[in-house]
Amino acid sequence: MRQPFGKLLLFGATGDLAQRMLIPSLYGLHADQLLPEGLTITGTARSTLSDADYRDFCAKALETYLPEDRKDPAAIASFLDRVQYQPLDASTIEGFDELATKLGDISGGLAIFLSTAPKLFEPTIKGLASAGLAGENVRIGLEKPLGTDLPSSCEINDAVASVFPEERTFRIDHYLGKETVQNILALRFGNALFEPIWNATGIDHVEITVSETVGLEGRAGYYDDVGALRDMVQNHILQLLALIAMEPPARFDGTAIRDEKVKVLRSLRPVAGQDAANLTVTGQYTGGASTGKIVAGYAEELEKPSRTETFVAIKAHIDNWRWQGVPFYLRTGKRMTERRSEIVVQFKPVPHSIFAERGGVLQSNTLIIRIQPEEYVRLLVMAKEPGLDREGIRLREVPLNLSLDTEFAGTRRRIAYERLLLDLIEGDPTLFVRRDEVEAQWAWIDAIREGWDMADVKPKPYASGTWGPSAAIALTERDGVTWNE
Ligand code: BG6
Repeated sequence: MRQPFGKLLLFGATGDLAQRMLIPSLYGLHADQLLPEGLTITGTARSTLSDADYRDFCAKALETYLPEDRKDPAAIASFLDRVQYQPLDASTIEGFDELATKLGDISGGLAIFLSTAPKLFEPTIKGLASAGLAGENVRIGLEKPLGTDLPSSCEINDAVASVFPEERTFRIDHYLGKETVQNILALRFGNALFEPIWNATGIDHVEITVSETVGLEGRAGYYDDVGALRDMVQNHILQLLALIAMEPPARFDGTAIRDEKVKVLRSLRPVAGQDAANLTVTGQYTGGASTGKIVAGYAEELEKPSRTETFVAIKAHIDNWRWQGVPFYLRTGKRMTERRSEIVVQFKPVPHSIFAERGGVLQSNTLIIRIQPEEYVRLLVMAKEPGLDREGIRLREVPLNLSLDTEFAGTRRRIAYERLLLDLIEGDPTLFVRRDEVEAQWAWIDAIREGWDMADVKPKPYASGTWGPSAAIALTERDGVTWNE
C-alpha cells in the first residue's frame, strides 16, 4: 500500500539541482494537487538563511526555471507556504537536533532527499540517526554520485544500510523518471508484437546514444574526477540497456522489475584487460562550433590539461541465451552535434528476399526509441513505391511513426523528478535503483577503468559540435554497422 508522507526534508536545498529541478518539480506536483495535503518541505544546507530568505530563494528558482505558462501566482504563494529552512553543517553531528526540532512531529512520515557532496553522505546518515530522524516511518532518497567505484559505493551503501533498510532506501537515477524510458516497458510488455523477435534470432544489434551539446557547465570540480564513463554510462546508459534487454517481469512492481534488470547487469560480459582498449573509444572535446556558437575545448574550460574522457563509446555483450552474439553499442559525450537520447534496435534481414530478381533492395527493419528532446517511437519498414514497376520493383524504407508528443498533446510533460519525488513521498520503489543493481553496474565499469589504466588509454581529441572521435565510427564500422546519426 502506498502511504502518503507528512514531511519532506531536502539536503542540498540551495544547490543547483534543487534550483533547476527539485523546487520546480515540487511546485509542479503542488500546483496539480498531487502533494499530500499538509506536507511541509524543509530545506537544509550550510547557508545561514531564514525561512523567509529560503522562500525568496525558491520563488527565484521558480521564476527562473518554470515555463511561463506554469507560473500561477496563487499556486506559487500557496507552495511557498509549505516551505521552511534550517541551516545545517552536515559534516558534524551538532545541529541535527535543531533540525529535528524544526521538523517537529514526524509521526505522519518523513521522506528525506539527499543531494549533497558524497563526502557528506556518511556524516549525514549518522546525524539523522542520532537525532531520531531514521525511524520506521522515515525513507531516504539518494542522488548520485553514489561513489566513484565499487568499493566507495559499497562504503556509502553500508553506511546507509546501517541506519536505513533497503526497502526504505531510494537510489535515484533520473532517467527512470523520464516518460519515454518508462515507455520501453509499455512498448515491450504491452504489445505482443515485439517480444517473439526481441532476441538474438530477431535482432542484429542495439545502439544506445546519449549525446549532449553542453560542456562543463561550471561543474569542473565534479566532472574532471569522474568523466563520461562514470557520469553517464555507469547509471543512465546501463539502466536503459537493462530495460531494453531484461526478461519479462512477472508483475509491474519494484521487486519483479529490479530482479530482471539486475540479471541483465550481471550478465554483461566484462570489458576487461586489453578488451578495454579494443572495445571502447574515449574522447575529449576540443574547441569548435557547438549549436551555432564558438566554444572552448575541455582543457581550456578547465584551465589545465586533463586525461578525463568527455566521450565514450563501448561495444558491449550480454552473456545469456537471449542476447548471445548481439552487440550493444553504447556512446555518450558532451559537446556533440546535438542533444539526443535514443535507443536504436536493428532487426535482422529477411531470410530470403523475393524482390531481388526484380531489382528490389531491402533494408532491415529498425526501431528507434527517441527519449529526448523529442519523444517518439519510429519503426522503419519497407514499402513499395507507387508505380507500374516496369523497370524493376522499387522498395523504400518508410517510417511508422508514433509521436508521443503529438499523440499525447495537451498532456503536460513532467520533469523526471516530479515522478520520482512523488514516488519517494508515496513509497513506491519501482523506479529507483536497488543496491545489487548499482553494485553490478560499478563492477562492470571498474573493469573497464582498470583496463584503461593498464593499457594507458588516453582520450582522443574531437572537435566540439561533432559526433566524437573518428575511432568511434570505426568501432562499429568494422562490424559493418553505422551509428544512427
Ligand atoms: C546527469 C549528469 O546525471 O545527467 C550530467 O551528471 C548530464 O553530466 C545529465 O548532463 C543529463 O541529463 P538529461 O536529463 O539532461 O539527459
